[in-house]
Amino acid sequence: MAILSSLISSLLLTSLFTAIPTTAQDNAPLVNWNGRQYRCKCYKGDSCWPSAASWAALNSTVGGNLFKVVPPGASCYNTFDGQNTYSQQQCSAANTGWRSEDWHADQQVTNMWTFWTNNTCNPTTNRVGTCTLGHLPEFVIMAKTREHIQAGINFARTNNLRLLIRNTGHDFMGRSAGFGSLAINTHSFKSVQFVKTYTGPGGWTGSAVTVGAGVQVRELYRLANQQSPKVVVVGGECPTVGLAGGYIQGGGHGPMASYYGMAADNAIAFSVVTASGDFVTADAESNPDLFWALRGGGPSTYAAIVSVTVKTFPEVPTAGVSLSIRSTGDLFWKGVTAFHNLANHYVENGMFVYYELTSSSLTVQPFVGPNMDKTKIEAVLKPLFDKLRADGVQYTSTTREFGTFFDMYTAMFQDEGAGASGLVGGRLFTKRDIAENGDGIVRAYRTATGAAGGGFSVIIGHIVGPGTAYPTISNAIHPAWRNASSFSITMVNVEGNAPLSQKAAAQDRLTNVVDKALRDASPYGAAYVNEGNLEEPNWQEAFWGSNYPRLKELKAKWDPEGVFYARTTPGTEMWEQIESGSRLCRTV
Ligand SMILES: Cc1cc2nc3c(=O)[nH]c(=O)nc-3n(C[C@H](O)[C@H](O)[C@H](O)COP(=O)(O)OP(=O)(O)OC[C@H]3O[C@@H](n4cnc5c(N)ncnc54)[C@H](O)[C@@H]3O)c2cc1C
Ligand SMILES: *[C@@H]1O[C@H](CO)[C@@H](O)[C@H](O)[C@H]1NC(C)=O
Ligand SMILES: *[C@@H]1O[C@H](CO)[C@@H](O)[C@H](O)[C@H]1NC(C)=O
Ligand SMILES: *[C@@H]1O[C@H](CO)[C@@H](O)[C@H](O)[C@H]1NC(C)=O
Repeated sequence: MAILSSLISSLLLTSLFTAIPTTAQDNAPLVNWNGRQYRCKCYKGDSCWPSAASWAALNSTVGGNLFKVVPPGASCYNTFDGQNTYSQQQCSAANTGWRSEDWHADQQVTNMWTFWTNNTCNPTTNRVGTCTLGHLPEFVIMAKTREHIQAGINFARTNNLRLLIRNTGHDFMGRSAGFGSLAINTHSFKSVQFVKTYTGPGGWTGSAVTVGAGVQVRELYRLANQQSPKVVVVGGECPTVGLAGGYIQGGGHGPMASYYGMAADNAIAFSVVTASGDFVTADAESNPDLFWALRGGGPSTYAAIVSVTVKTFPEVPTAGVSLSIRSTGDLFWKGVTAFHNLANHYVENGMFVYYELTSSSLTVQPFVGPNMDKTKIEAVLKPLFDKLRADGVQYTSTTREFGTFFDMYTAMFQDEGAGASGLVGGRLFTKRDIAENGDGIVRAYRTATGAAGGGFSVIIGHIVGPGTAYPTISNAIHPAWRNASSFSITMVNVEGNAPLSQKAAAQDRLTNVVDKALRDASPYGAAYVNEGNLEEPNWQEAFWGSNYPRLKELKAKWDPEGVFYARTTPGTEMWEQIESGSRLCRTV
């Protein structure tokens, strides 16, 4: 009976809501560009752009936390948007902060990887230059409560605005920039709550942690290490990446992933705000389809995450090895081959490996050996060192052992910088690719790192095999991750304010030389939505494989109007950022 009456009332509610038009999409501006017609989001200057009074009303709904965006670089220019903005002190802070991930994470809207902002207001010493927003948002809500997130989503939906969710500003692929948008910044959601026994649905009765959207991985690792007994969480290799934002929605690999699975594999519940502005839980019992999609279906696609609950695991003693090979020519590539051809062997032993490869250097920093001591990790790596010596490859290497993963992580991983500009691509290699064509993959690396053509090409490599922990789990990440043993990011440097022709040439080199070499060498491989090429051919298949059709249906169900948008995510086929990456429009 109770079920029946709640069904009837929900049916009544549904019909009531569908009778009232809820969006401004009907009067979306009609725009012609490159000979095609588009219906666009509303932008400043359009008659459908909200009035000052509407913005003021939104500001009071969000407790005064709405701000008009002034890029931090504006302090280095005489004026921005008609206002005097120069401040020697702030400019000097912006110049220093620009290179720091932590500084960016604390900003309202900047991006650590600056290419997609269009680099129109970088800190400078030339104060008479011009500072504009480029692809940064117009307004930002510095959300403090889930109601603020809800208010921002409702405002964007009813006014047909481009909505942007911005957490740390980490995204390599420009997904935390968005021309003319209203941004919601989730950096303040720092709550962390550990439990020893999870009692929610899904069958997991081990320990778990509920993490607010703004929590970054190193702060989480530190808190996990303070529990008694100490626990670990699968998070990123990078200390400042957010756990609950783009990272987990795209899948999330990291130092413990070969041992405990992908971050998304370990998610057991999400608390979210949907495109319609509702607060919902997504777990094994409530909205299981949304739960499935949020675990790997793409960032900013299905809902705004307020918090996520993930499994935690016992801490384990962990050993680490660093390795450096600096050389050129055939002997150098022999060394790289010896190293990379053992990828399956490393992951079968639960290892994760982070490395950086250029045409003349391989820096492994480090090999991670969970549940290993010095003797064990040296035994696992013996085939590598035997081969390097047999081939006559010169190298340097250090082995260390620690009581916990956390101690190894803080001692052996290095902080990364920010403020660089470039295009990113990448490729995931399966165990079969390595076994059947390992030498071919390294030849592809050689092509890729040698293809600089005036720019700088580098491979950021990860040896990672999350399929061991969860061989058959059903979630949205590409099924090829179950067979993976190596994932590489590719990069081609180019400035965000370079002429369009130069940007196009860099994109062409990335897609058709660098990534093509890696793709051709790995017929069973795939690509990773968080660290991939925005112009990946057949991106639906490359990022999601057989999961794509269901993801596209679920996008239509949970966000039928396209309130959320991130490029190359499910269901965005009809959307385009026209005018060289500015206005977001739907083809008509
Ligand atoms: C230096 C560096 C190291 C990295 N290391 C790793 C790694 O070890 N493993 C790995 O798997 N990936 C790694 N990444 C990639 C990383 O997973 C993605 O960049 C990811 O999108 C970052 O998420 P974020 O929330 O921190 O960043 P943001 O740039 O703030 O957001 C990224 C995307 O997520 C969306 N988003 C953010 N918050 C929310 C929310 N609350 N609800 C809904 N959508 C949201 C944004 O709209 C945007 O589309 C790394 C990236 C960099 C730059
Ligand atoms: C919102 O209100 C706060 C507090 O009054 C104010 O500082 C801020 O400038 C306002 N934002 C906008 C966009 O007017
Ligand atoms: C972005 O940069 C390109 C040049 O690379 C320029 O043509 C375009 O007008 C810029 N757009 C904005 C909004 O800054
Ligand atoms: C994973 O590997 C198995 C065994 O080789 C194979 O049957 C399966 O098709 C692979 N799956 C994907 C998605 O690559």
